[in-house]
Amino acid sequence: MATSVLILNGPNLNRLGTREPDIYGTATFADLVALCTAEALVVDLIADVRQTNDEAELIGWLHEAADAKAPVIINPAAFTHYSYALRDACALVESPLIEVHLSNPAAREEFRQTSVISGVADGVIAGFGIESYRLALRAISYLTTA
Ligand code: DQA
Repeated sequence: MATSVLILNGPNLNRLGTREPDIYGTATFADLVALCTAEALVVDLIADVRQTNDEAELIGWLHEAADAKAPVIINPAAFTHYSYALRDACALVESPLIEVHLSNPAAREEFRQTSVISGVADGVIAGFGIESYRLALRAISYLTTA
């Protein structure tokens, strides 16, 4: 049976398409869901794509992934840069966990150049717009296929 991957998205990512398109592109969140759903099928995974503006809800989903031993792709959005609570929740996940970003935060403002999440992720993919998620699904497939 195909493995489910939780693809978790943090604050303001529901605004994709109209939010600073010069930085985040013109693809909408619905486009992101469609890409993940299609790409997951290609690599024999099931994409469970979620978005919230609420830190507590994101932490709850990570607890769910930890309990289910499910792999995770997470774009923590602005929480990337300061949420130790989210970092601690990511650390609970024993299955592969990939941090993704649409933009390349390392090439942006100084406050974005720190990720408190990267140290507990298996890897980071950033800078390719919604294609970052396709690459992250490939990485999960690579890490979970014996
Ligand atoms: C982001 C980068 C973050 O710095 C920013 O706060 C976001 C989106 C990205 O995908 O490029 O909301 O995570």
